[in-house]
Amino acid sequence: MTSSIEIQSYAKINWTLDVLFKREDGYHELRTIYQTVSLHDTLTVTETEGPIQVHCADPRVPSDETNLAFKAAVMLRKAAGTIRGARIEIEKRIPVAAGLGGGSSNAAATLLALIKLWQIELTDQELFRIAASLGSDVPFFLLGGTALGVGRGEEVSPLEQIHCHHLLLVNPGFAVSTREAYESLSRLTRSEAAPIIPFALMAANGISGLPLAARNDLEEAVLAAHPEIAEVKRRLLSLGARHAQMSGSGATVFGVFDNSQAIEHAESEARAAGYWAQQVRTVDVREYQATIFQ
Ligand code: C5P
Repeated sequence: MTSSIEIQSYAKINWTLDVLFKREDGYHELRTIYQTVSLHDTLTVTETEGPIQVHCADPRVPSDETNLAFKAAVMLRKAAGTIRGARIEIEKRIPVAAGLGGGSSNAAATLLALIKLWQIELTDQELFRIAASLGSDVPFFLLGGTALGVGRGEEVSPLEQIHCHHLLLVNPGFAVSTREAYESLSRLTRSEAAPIIPFALMAANGISGLPLAARNDLEEAVLAAHPEIAEVKRRLLSLGARHAQMSGSGATVFGVFDNSQAIEHAESEARAAGYWAQQVRTVDVREYQATIFQ
């Protein structure tokens, strides 16, 4: 009998993304507040006797060893010393290379599913180490909800949870390379952590005020290279968003709305303009942990 597990692989946004300085290992030291949202891919992971296989109907998603879910399975197999195989089917809904963490989320979901399927005993420390070696955002998806990310983003800890019911994600339809986004951040001349404590803002206003006070240090450089993202932001604000901001390294912009009427209207206008647009809400850590395997 073949055993199979279905797992939801949620997308994220970054409420804040403060880039402090470029480190000696080439990564940027950052402080970010991650947030999982209700948009998700669905992965069906089946145990096999053969090699690791990845299938996805979306042609933009590679099926070979460059796929992060594939890498996750290979790395876990090695760490656990098992020779068991797996077939990973990805039903893609999260736009690709869009600042929504889709690939990283798929990798974390693959780890969680395979630990169950292969019945692997792994300490949290080992699991988080494997996740971090796959990508800076992968450990966050082992946790979910509202979380602080430090280091290159891989050291995560839960925060007070933010609940936001009317978020609109809009993607103009082109991919932005994370590496290029960081490289184009020309103002990074500091060699040590800046004395900015972005979280003072949260302490002063309460974290629940964050959706309207968020900011992203990558935005300026990416918007300069891709004026169309600035246009998406402008449109969201003119359609009534209280706040609009690029997520991660883009190109997706999220808009924070007050009510369902305003967001419905903005979603249909964004789609009429030819953009990918999707209404979402936040998924807190409890819901995340309770629903990924449903
Ligand atoms: O860690 P991940 O593979 O997702 O990062 C992709 C690229 O983004 C890195 O190779 C690096 O160029 C850039 N990056 C960075 N600083 C970070 C995270 C990512 O410079 N904190």
